[in-house]
Amino acid sequence: MNDRYLGLVNTQIGSALASRVGLPRPAVLRRYQAGAPLLAGPVLLGSISGTAPPALAGLLAGAGADTRTTDAGDVAWAGLVLDATEVSAPDQLAGARTFLAGPLRRLMPCGRVLVLARPADGTDVTVDASRQALDGIVRSLAKELQRGATANLLLIEQGASLESGVRFFLSGKSAYIDGQSLRLGAGPAPPPTDWNRPLAGKTALVTGAARGIGAAIAGVLARDGARVVLADLPQAGEALVKVANRIGATTLHLDVAAPDAPERLLTYLAAHTDGLDVLIHNAGITRDKLLVNMAAEQWDSVLAVNLISQLRINAALLGGEQLRAQARVVCLSSTTGLAGNRGQTNYGATKAGVIGLVRSAAREFTAHADSTINAVAPGFIDTEMTARMPMATREVARRLSSLQQAGLPVDVAEAVGWLSSSGAGGVNGQVLRVCGQNLVGA
Ligand SMILES: NC(=O)c1ccc[n+]([C@@H]2O[C@H](COP(=O)([O-])OP(=O)(O)OC[C@H]3O[C@@H](n4cnc5c(N)ncnc54)[C@H](O)[C@@H]3O)[C@@H](O)[C@H]2O)c1
Repeated sequence: MNDRYLGLVNTQIGSALASRVGLPRPAVLRRYQAGAPLLAGPVLLGSISGTAPPALAGLLAGAGADTRTTDAGDVAWAGLVLDATEVSAPDQLAGARTFLAGPLRRLMPCGRVLVLARPADGTDVTVDASRQALDGIVRSLAKELQRGATANLLLIEQGASLESGVRFFLSGKSAYIDGQSLRLGAGPAPPPTDWNRPLAGKTALVTGAARGIGAAIAGVLARDGARVVLADLPQAGEALVKVANRIGATTLHLDVAAPDAPERLLTYLAAHTDGLDVLIHNAGITRDKLLVNMAAEQWDSVLAVNLISQLRINAALLGGEQLRAQARVVCLSSTTGLAGNRGQTNYGATKAGVIGLVRSAAREFTAHADSTINAVAPGFIDTEMTARMPMATREVARRLSSLQQAGLPVDVAEAVGWLSSSGAGGVNGQVLRVCGQNLVGA
């Protein structure tokens, strides 16, 4: 599971060799560390018309970023933030090139490019075409950036609160999110009292938490201050207890696909908690086969665990009394649900189904005291699930993203952690890919 190539290519000899023969040179990504500054150096802020927006400058300064509004010409930048919200005609798009081109040459390793724009809204074709054009700029730029740097786009609706999203996308928490766009709506998004413990006082439950991505999610939620309940199959009990002891959580033996799972969950919550603030539907299985060879059991079990369980548990929570106000639900999808994957019609059905689920359920969750439901779609993440792949396939899959490496469980966990926080209240019914900008598929 250890990415030996990543280690090798980051030695002096390995880097020179890879460069000479034209092999990929993935960078060791800058990931979040408690107490570390938001960015590893100064951030340049500008707008499409040239004037840096004061509100954004204040926000960045408040987050402790060394914010500048002019490019001195010799500064190495840790971040470039472009406010493109005023774009309404194609000729204004040149402003993106004017702002970015020069400083990009001095973007630090693992630097961040963040573009803020308005979403297309169907009222004017020229405006919408120009706004959508920014998406193409960001996705293409993300493919040009090197040394672990990323570019992402935030689509800001009128009245949306920017702070939490801007912080997340500039920080090491978004290390493996690249070439993505995400919409920030006007839903209530109160900032936390303590940005280092945004989930303080919250109760969270993670399914499939005994290992892999689920265990990493539980760790991040606990680090961020939540009381965490870890749920997994009874046979994963020993591993579950180890995770619980490590992060200070409680455990629940629960097969999410069992007929009585929703009822058991509600009974547990009523007996042991004051209600649930955060639910992470992470439990998932694969039973890969070409469709022509797939047995009914392989189909049914994947559908039951990965999709049907989520639908049933959500319905029970919305119909019961245990889900608290401004709750957050995050569902694990996959890039397979967006792009498809050979041998995974059953898995692809469930992961695409999860996307349909969050899009459709968003309104119902808003109606539940401004709660939200979103999906995270990981790309290739190094876990026991992917360790089962043949070695050569795994090695190729690892390089097939703009960041030229697999993600780590913690990368998915950080995205889930952010979507679970109060500040992410403007994100609802959406899918956030954590895939290093996968080069294959959608
Ligand atoms: N690893 C990746 O590259 C990747 C990519 C995209 C999406 N995902 C998704 O992320 C999630 C976690 O993946 P992972 O790689 O950590 O998987 P994993 O196989 O390492 O862990 C899955 C966990 O879910 C538990 N589980 C399985 N069936 C269960 C059930 N019926 N009830 C309760 N718990 C159950 C398992 O015991 C295990 O602890 C899954 O939904 C998976 O589809 C993973």
